[in-house]
Amino acid sequence: MSYNLLKGKRGIITGALDVNSIAWKVAEKAHEEGATFVLTNAPIAMRMGEINALAEKTNSVIIPADATSIEDLTHLFTASQEVLGGKIDFVLHSIGMSVNIRKKIPYAESNYEYFHKGIDVSALSFHKMLAVAKKLDAINEWGSVVALTYMAAQRVFPFYTDMADIKSMLESIARSFGYQYGLDKKVRINTISQSPTKTTAGTGIKGFSDFFDYADAIAPLGNASAEDCANYCVSLFSDFTRMVTMQNLFHDGGYSNTGVSDAVLKKLGLQ
Ligand SMILES: NC(=O)c1ccc[n+]([C@@H]2O[C@H](COP(=O)([O-])OP(=O)(O)OC[C@H]3O[C@@H](n4cnc5c(N)ncnc54)[C@H](O)[C@@H]3O)[C@@H](O)[C@H]2O)c1
Repeated sequence: MSYNLLKGKRGIITGALDVNSIAWKVAEKAHEEGATFVLTNAPIAMRMGEINALAEKTNSVIIPADATSIEDLTHLFTASQEVLGGKIDFVLHSIGMSVNIRKKIPYAESNYEYFHKGIDVSALSFHKMLAVAKKLDAINEWGSVVALTYMAAQRVFPFYTDMADIKSMLESIARSFGYQYGLDKKVRINTISQSPTKTTAGTGIKGFSDFFDYADAIAPLGNASAEDCANYCVSLFSDFTRMVTMQNLFHDGGYSNTGVSDAVLKKLGLQ
């Protein structure tokens, strides 16, 4: 069912790699809700070509951009305004990558070159995106920017290694930039802290499947799906959340506030 929540709004959606990507679902929902938008991803990720099907389905233009490149981002924000016919109302940052995780390197033995790469791709890219948009004055007043994060920024999940620190930085950028952009242009910036979700980035994490089941058994509502996350993103892009900014918003079925659940106690034979 569509509510036309984003009717007339123009956006930029990063990070749709394949049909499992959270960004993919956001694009489908935003389209259903009446938005027009540009899809973007790193040029290397486009080689697989799956994004073309999404562009066709949502009637969108694709503009490749490496989110670590100021030049690419400048082109992205400039060309998007031309293609969409005006300033941008919403941006989704759905970009994450850690070589240390990919190579299964333990946290204490992190490779610093990979660590830097992870920071650049997964956190600084958010700052760069916002800085470029602000410089170009590309986002409308009351526009909304959302980045996706994970609770390892607050609590230790050993398998998340350097991404835990990187997500802390991402969330901090949302606060710091949210203050500045809010003050200057009334643009709001938030992060959504999403449940474990079965995507390319998610399942690349060691022991992901077991942890997915664990989180599902702890959360009273169970894990939040990518589709639910997309609905939440749409609500944050809409005018119904105009005064929400500089927040890290947990979207996890209640996991973050649950110490232990009956289901887990039963599994341990304690109930
Ligand atoms: N899957 C989960 O369990 C989970 C949980 C919480 C938060 N998140 C976050 O959600 C976001 C989206 O991840 P996903 O799970 O949908 O996985 P995904 O692998 O589908 O998406 C990650 C995207 O980042 C893109 N990317 C990587 N390097 C880039 C670069 N230099 N420039 C531009 N784009 C680049 C990839 O091409 C890919 O499209 C990430 O920030 C991730 O950390 C995921």
